[in-house]
Amino acid sequence: MTDPLIALRPWQAPELTSWRRLPMNAVDRRPGALGLDGDWRFHLLPAPDAPLPADAWTTSAVPGVWTVQGTDDLPGYLNVRMPFPQFPPHTPDADPTGVYEREIDVPAEWAGRRIVLQVGAAESVLLVHVDGEPVGVSKDSHLAAEFDLSGTVRPGRPSTLRLTVVKWSDASHIEDQDQWWHGGITRSVLLYATDPLHLADVGVRAGRDGRLRVDCQVRDARGALPAGWYVTGDLDGRPLTQDTEFDRANAEDERVSGFLGEARIETVVPDVRTWNAETPELYTLTVRLHRADGTVADTATQRVGFRDVEIVGRDLLVNGERVYIRGVNRHDFHPLTGRTVSREDMRADLALLKRFGFNAIRTAHYPGDPALYDLADELGLYVVDEADIEAHDHAHEIADDPRYLAAFVDRVARMVLRDKNHPCVIVWSLGNESDYGANHDAAAGWVRRHDPSRPVQYEGAAKRGWADPGVASDIACPMYAPLEECLAHALSGTQTKPLIQCEYSHAMGNSNGTLADHWAAIEATPGLQGGFIWEFWDHGILQRVSDGRPAGPAGTGLYGGGTTAPGYRWAYGGDFGEADHDGAFIADGVVFPDRTPKPVLFEHREIAAPVRIESYRHEGIVLGNHQHFRGLEWLAATWELALADGRTLTAPAHLPALRPGETAAVQLPFALPDDGGEAWLTLRVTTAEDQPWAPRGTEVCSPRTPLRPAGPPKPTRPGGEPVRLDGDGLLVHPLLTAAPTLSLWRAPTDNDELGGTAPRWRELGLDALVRKLSSVERDGARVTVVAEYAAAAGVVLHRQVFTPFAGGLRIDESAELPPEFSDVARVGSVFETVAGLDLLEWFGQGPWESYPDRAAGAPVGHHASPVDALFTPYLRPQESGGRHGVRRFTLSAPDATGLAVELDAPRQVSVTRFRAEDLTAVTHHDQLVPRAGCVVHLDAAHRGLGTASCGPDTFAAYLVPTGVHRWSWTLRAL
Ligand code: GAL
Ligand code: MG
Repeated sequence: MTDPLIALRPWQAPELTSWRRLPMNAVDRRPGALGLDGDWRFHLLPAPDAPLPADAWTTSAVPGVWTVQGTDDLPGYLNVRMPFPQFPPHTPDADPTGVYEREIDVPAEWAGRRIVLQVGAAESVLLVHVDGEPVGVSKDSHLAAEFDLSGTVRPGRPSTLRLTVVKWSDASHIEDQDQWWHGGITRSVLLYATDPLHLADVGVRAGRDGRLRVDCQVRDARGALPAGWYVTGDLDGRPLTQDTEFDRANAEDERVSGFLGEARIETVVPDVRTWNAETPELYTLTVRLHRADGTVADTATQRVGFRDVEIVGRDLLVNGERVYIRGVNRHDFHPLTGRTVSREDMRADLALLKRFGFNAIRTAHYPGDPALYDLADELGLYVVDEADIEAHDHAHEIADDPRYLAAFVDRVARMVLRDKNHPCVIVWSLGNESDYGANHDAAAGWVRRHDPSRPVQYEGAAKRGWADPGVASDIACPMYAPLEECLAHALSGTQTKPLIQCEYSHAMGNSNGTLADHWAAIEATPGLQGGFIWEFWDHGILQRVSDGRPAGPAGTGLYGGGTTAPGYRWAYGGDFGEADHDGAFIADGVVFPDRTPKPVLFEHREIAAPVRIESYRHEGIVLGNHQHFRGLEWLAATWELALADGRTLTAPAHLPALRPGETAAVQLPFALPDDGGEAWLTLRVTTAEDQPWAPRGTEVCSPRTPLRPAGPPKPTRPGGEPVRLDGDGLLVHPLLTAAPTLSLWRAPTDNDELGGTAPRWRELGLDALVRKLSSVERDGARVTVVAEYAAAAGVVLHRQVFTPFAGGLRIDESAELPPEFSDVARVGSVFETVAGLDLLEWFGQGPWESYPDRAAGAPVGHHASPVDALFTPYLRPQESGGRHGVRRFTLSAPDATGLAVELDAPRQVSVTRFRAEDLTAVTHHDQLVPRAGCVVHLDAAHRGLGTASCGPDTFAAYLVPTGVHRWSWTLRAL
């Protein structure tokens, strides 16, 4: 006999969003619940209606996705395209279906109680059976499903719980987010019991004026409500009083029968400590539901933050302040478990974001685990809560398809019902990339009635016109809009909505060029309020190279510092044998798959600096407080003065008491030496006390200013070794294994490739320059070498003038780029050193990687690093490891021998173990074989990084111009 739930074929019925699922609510039932996480019996069927072999069980960890747990159904990555050709709502016949089973021992004391099963999240259709009897169905892969098991399970006796999870369904068509496809139960499963008389929901409104209103929905599982029930509550011990006016009005309302119970309790908190992302003050609310005799039937506990969100004119205000939204898009991701993340992982994600100056996340592109919102409340992050709706491949058909209407409203409503009490949630989002249709307006209508306290956004609606997105968006929230368009809109006089990009600055590979330019414009332009960087994670799954399998949950300890142990790699699209995939587009985050920060995070941290150096004049340094709500008391600071003579002086700094927006002059604690040399002042700002997201002493920002520009170069004494050249006019030097030659190319970044620049470079032939010696002229000790570098596009003339001096060699170079060589990667010298020079010390920007359009976060100072640590191991190898604004450096062996280079001006320099062609020859970081010596690039000009893998390219100011480039440097042995 076919099971009735299977016979229903709910995986191909978009109108059926659930069956017998309980309504969503905001009561946290996790405390006191019986956890059902752990190993379950498991079998993977080839299709939902395939017969289940009797003895086929293996085990599977719940929560978890079977795609990383040793089954043959592996993860697959596609961005927009669906992994099967069927049109919505159809699905392929081959449809992996996980059957999970376990015994549950319902405690005997639960007899007579209301017993509820909660499945945290299952993708994409969940069928529930107990002892073979059908219990319910749910879709909506990133929200919990609850089912009443009271009549089904028998307290004191074991029952068999079966969860069947169907991977492909009509719902997959609206869960077509840009991420790995997995299958499984991704969040915790639990069982809880309440009295039949219970709090079905609790809704909290808490404003910055201290007013608190708590609306309680009371139900009785037996049907009618018993007479005489009432609710009480307290907030941090302060009793709440029941609103009798509300009760009387309700009692007079015929609709409010004995079955439907509503009660309201309220209070006003004087001198309330308001919640905001900087000072996330929380109170604890306890609500009690009493029986007529005063005994407590049910309790709900909830943390409460008092705050207001409103849109006034074109500003989004939190507690009346126009806060900047320094956001990032965050997916659920873990390199071992795929989509299952623990509370500790979520805390680590959010703590890291706080440490790098973020104050907001968009839950791209579905609601997060309940714990994520608890943590955001606690740590202080604004949340744009996004419903699980992305119909990307079939967006146009689905947005107006009435078969999907219920699913749209259901998904948005369930998110709002669950998360409405969190102060962190400041905006509801209707989903992502699903075109714009009547289904969206229906969902927007539901939210506006249910929760008028928060704005709604939807990018697809805002696309119609930023000034008039219609009912579905209160915010103009484009993605990847060019900065000049944003500016033009803000200055046009037609702007009606806050402009906050839901996605911008695509972080794929070596990226996020012009981030500082964006923020300079945002902070200078009323109407621009920020945005959400795309995205937090590089979704590389840890993979065993030998058999191509995911390492799975057991892979702990096989990675670190952004890379993997030998024999493993970070898998991206195509690495699991997918026939069709979107490659490394899945690796586009500001952190590596192990949460190691990429260099862009240091850039972001500086851009978001809470305290900044406004100016420097002789009377002192002017500091400013750039926060919205708090002073500088939580910060400690040290002055650092980097001098051209190699010294770094430090002195304690006393931060002035400044309210937000205020500035004050402070005295410079140093006298500048009178050698006329370059001097840079940096204020190292750290946390003064432990913060919930960082220990005391954690770096917060390091604003800096030049105090004195570089003086003229030191004169050199004539003399030195005569210049030696080989037959091709190439320098012969005991410390170099490859002489300095002209370089016009870099290993293409993802932005270079996908933005179309690298294909053009290849057409120009920049990756295969052929050098031909033209002339060698000697004038005393000075030697001039001219060579032609031929590419498909033409010829570049390169001149090197070698002038020996006592102890070294001066090299003056020039290269003339004809007009065909427009927008090349770089113009500069490349050479290679002998092995053993493993330490780089430099005076310039650092310590982390920086490029011309991503250099705001790297202070000028004296830095040192092992050569191996300079390189950034982006998942798909590409140009990396550059340092901007380098004035001079030494490369040395442990015995202090080596070489020293002095540059004529601050230049882009990179020192790595890889030639550009080493990086382009491979597809994954684990295939790179470091060279023994160093590959050194000194660039007269280096192209900015931009973000063209998805969005705007760099600005014209960061392109390499044609014409003549000149640069000079000296080379000495140490
Ligand atoms: C956006 C989309 C994201 C992601 C990004 C590119 O269009 O909303 O989900 O695909 O582009 O990485
Ligand atoms: Mg998409």
